Amino acid sequence: MITIACYNLKGGVGKTASAVNLAYLAAQGGASTLVWDLDPQGAASFYFRIKPRIKGGTSGLFQRKRELDAVIKATDYPRLDLIPADFSYRNMDLLLEQQRKPGTRLRKLIKPLRSEYHFLFLDCPPSISLVSENIFAASDVLLVPTIPTTLSLRTLQQLVEFCDTEQYRHLKVIPFFSMVDRRKNLHREIVDQRDGVLKNAPLNYIPYASEVEQMGVRRAPVDTYAHASWAARAYREMWLELQPTLLALNRGGWQPQPARR
Ligand SMILES: Nc1ncnc2c1ncn2[C@@H]1O[C@H](COP(=O)(O)OP(=O)(O)OP(=O)(O)O)[C@@H](O)[C@H]1O
Ligand SMILES: [Mg+2]
Repeated sequence: MITIACYNLKGGVGKTASAVNLAYLAAQGGASTLVWDLDPQGAASFYFRIKPRIKGGTSGLFQRKRELDAVIKATDYPRLDLIPADFSYRNMDLLLEQQRKPGTRLRKLIKPLRSEYHFLFLDCPPSISLVSENIFAASDVLLVPTIPTTLSLRTLQQLVEFCDTEQYRHLKVIPFFSMVDRRKNLHREIVDQRDGVLKNAPLNYIPYASEVEQMGVRRAPVDTYAHASWAARAYREMWLELQPTLLALNRGGWQPQPARR
């Protein structure tokens, strides 16, 4: 299993949109895929039309009263499952602090799922906290949607430096451009220059597009209702572009299928 966290400590940058759309494409491409909506706001659960509630809440999971696979729900799409959000996730930091190994609890929790799924996408809440550290420890890839503005780049630089330690050596940090509006000079400049921490970012970027906003109304991945749109194509192209990197992780089991464009 390859664990991909859609993470940024900034809010409203497209983490949930990327988790939902890329997970959908992974499943469409034949991979058994799980999304864990780790954000108490429950946006990914909303997009998949699943109630943001898990029996027993966070403490039930941490106290092993309930195994993780008991709270998995099927979505409307083949090979795509979801662990819903729960409002008690807002207390996850506090509960983690009480654990014996607070930094790696999440990794331990997901371990039994390794043989069941090719991909686990974590839709992360916007913060940098003990929960985030657990996410870094549990993930193979940190996919970081980044709006091309000066302050976003600063935040990204901080994140890259934070992850550049022995503890997170295993973690591949992949920033990508999100909500790009080419009518804005600054967006154009930053995307075209791809300087510094973004020099190895995927060439494809996600444009600012009303089709993505419509996910809130459609409650579905963008590909299902606007396949021919620029935004849907951008997610497909990005997913294709990420595949060699994912394959190189050598996690076994998963082989990319030729995707439809
Ligand atoms: N490429 C895009 N074009 C236009 N709107 C977008 C795009 N991506 C996301 N949005 C919209 O912007 C808002 C924030 O997106 P999203 O929920 O994916 O961000 P997030 O980083 O998960 O936010 P949060 O930090 O609150 O979890 C949503 O209303 C979403 O519909
Ligand atoms: Mg979100």
